[in-house]
Amino acid sequence: MQPMQFQGSQIYLADKKPLMPAPAPRAPQLIDIKFEEKMALMKVARQLADEFGHYEDPTYIQTLHLYAYQLLPQRIARLLTQFGSDFSASQYGALVLRGLVEVDQEKLGPTPPSWKAYDPEKLLLYGFICSLLHGAVPAKPVQYYVQRKGGGLLHPIIPDESMSMSQTGSGSKTDLFVHTEDAFLFNQADFLSFLYLRNEEQVQSTLYSIRSHPAINANMEQLFRPIFRCPKDANFKDEQLGGADVMTSILYGNRQTPFIRFDAAEQLYNADAGQSSEALEILSRFWTEAKEYIYNDFIPQSGDLVFVNNHLCAHGRSAFKAGMKQVGGEWVKCERRQMLRMMSKTNLLQIREMTHPDNPYFIIEDHYGKIAKF
Ligand SMILES: [Fe+2]
Repeated sequence: MQPMQFQGSQIYLADKKPLMPAPAPRAPQLIDIKFEEKMALMKVARQLADEFGHYEDPTYIQTLHLYAYQLLPQRIARLLTQFGSDFSASQYGALVLRGLVEVDQEKLGPTPPSWKAYDPEKLLLYGFICSLLHGAVPAKPVQYYVQRKGGGLLHPIIPDESMSMSQTGSGSKTDLFVHTEDAFLFNQADFLSFLYLRNEEQVQSTLYSIRSHPAINANMEQLFRPIFRCPKDANFKDEQLGGADVMTSILYGNRQTPFIRFDAAEQLYNADAGQSSEALEILSRFWTEAKEYIYNDFIPQSGDLVFVNNHLCAHGRSAFKAGMKQVGGEWVKCERRQMLRMMSKTNLLQIREMTHPDNPYFIIEDHYGKIAKF
């Protein structure tokens, strides 16, 4: 039996004869977490909370990888470690860990009006669990100062009535188009986790992977050219656009198995994006194809977590009526959705120019290489 190797989208025997084409992945890998794994994880989180008090404790974050490898259930640690360096043609770029954590809905209480009113105590165990997952990649959780001032390493994403029509995490009434997170930064997150505490409205999560295209066709080749602009997202509508003159490519890295930086709402539908007609034409052709590959079969339930490689896979969600659910064809009131997001970088040395002098986990990039003033 000859050893098999992966190369491009073909599976080869060691003598390089193609055996069969690997199909382009169209959906994330779904992993059902076993009851024992969930219980072990909750116990570990309680132990770490007793020892460190908070998941942002510098000693904990500095030594995070040790804890991840020692304390996570082995199957989960192995899965995330492999995911961290699998950029192959068959890697979709997102994992769905179903039933990862236990959420006591009563203890969670009513959903607060906005993320700013969130009780930090309620985030504690989930912060330890999410950070361990990022630690296993291995990556370090980071926070983005300009984009989420004072948000910390774990951000509650809650529908906010005053921003219901916006293309942000606080929106609800319009579809949130698929996007890679912070496509307007050079130092965007490498990995993201979305932990769903509550989704009574049964909002669909959407994902789109660059790997779902069977091949990089002639139009997609054009996406490697640095001719595309990306304005800052709708969180900054009233602010001055800095870095607006910078143009980047949409695809980068390996030519056959590229990475992607893309925000459909900002790059295609924002009239102020300043896109050239050539860039807009290439993007429109690409988006027509890409839309066919959007995955929307997943409705997250309380306790589910989606782990994403932000260079391979974009994310979004369907429009919804915040605080309303359908029961037997009738709309009835319910508690609003709650999701917790964590973001991480795999290399703190590389981003040092863009981090706070006293805190290498605190990113201060404003817009494509422009450093924020604060
Ligand atoms: Fe996002």
